[in-house]
Amino acid sequence: MIKSSLLEVFNIEPRLKHPTIFDHFDALNAGESFIIKNDHDPKPLYYQLLGERGKDLIWEYLEFGPQYWQVRLGKPIENETIETIGQIAAKDIRKAEILKQLGVDFCCGGKQTVKEAATSIGLDEIELRMRLKQSEQLSPAGTTLNFQDWDIDFLSDYIKQVHHRFVREKGPLIQELAHKVADVHAQHHPELISLSEELDTFLNELYNHLDKEEKQLFPVIKNTQELTAKQVDQLIQFLISEHEDSGKELQQLRKITQNYTLPANACNSYRALFSQIESFESDLLQHIHLENNILFPKLLASYGVRIK
Ligand SMILES: [Fe+2]
Ligand SMILES: [Fe+2]
Repeated sequence: MIKSSLLEVFNIEPRLKHPTIFDHFDALNAGESFIIKNDHDPKPLYYQLLGERGKDLIWEYLEFGPQYWQVRLGKPIENETIETIGQIAAKDIRKAEILKQLGVDFCCGGKQTVKEAATSIGLDEIELRMRLKQSEQLSPAGTTLNFQDWDIDFLSDYIKQVHHRFVREKGPLIQELAHKVADVHAQHHPELISLSEELDTFLNELYNHLDKEEKQLFPVIKNTQELTAKQVDQLIQFLISEHEDSGKELQQLRKITQNYTLPANACNSYRALFSQIESFESDLLQHIHLENNILFPKLLASYGVRIK
């Protein structure tokens, strides 16, 4: 049971600080929390709690300096679903921007927890949580559109007009350029042959994927085609698995090109090819984010189904 909802740590005698906080924490039932307020970052306490009480704790920064730090400290409800990185990005565009800057994959890897995402970029979980919290101080203006507020009919039109069109226009140009660059430079850079072959496979699969969305899924959103909740769920799971394949393909392209590192003697076409693939990748990741984290969950929710 909660002993008190706010603990002003700076008013407690130094030797009693940690024992008092532990006392309060131990008295909590699942689902309960209290706030600790301190005059410096209480982060060492987090590690102490983690070491002595295990991983089942909630540590959420509510304020971080410069004068006071406030943290909500609690115990999670049993079997509570943990918010995924994709859901966090979908809910707050400012957090999506921070994740993008840090190199967190919230599109194909959107099912990761904050802890898993932090590990993937070599950051501490608590550091990542703090960076996400800090982003709430930024104005949403100046960032990109807040897609979460759009209805799915409008969002599906947007995806088709902006992202599907981009894939269909840029994809064939990139394939053509990749063949041309391979023809000219493969003698000294044989990896260019693998690159153009990989691109052909990847893009041809992607064009089929767009057709599936436009012919099978978007008509359901537009109410011109009826499917049962189970059928919609199955179709969406299939499309998500194709997105995961696309994510792997993008990684493979990065491997072949050593993260798009150009040789010193690269000609203009060579340079153009790498920069076009990189901008294609960034558009596709945004495209997949909109579908995996916003469009699909909203459509499933309208059928009363939770995304897995
Ligand atoms: Fe799509
Ligand atoms: Fe898709």
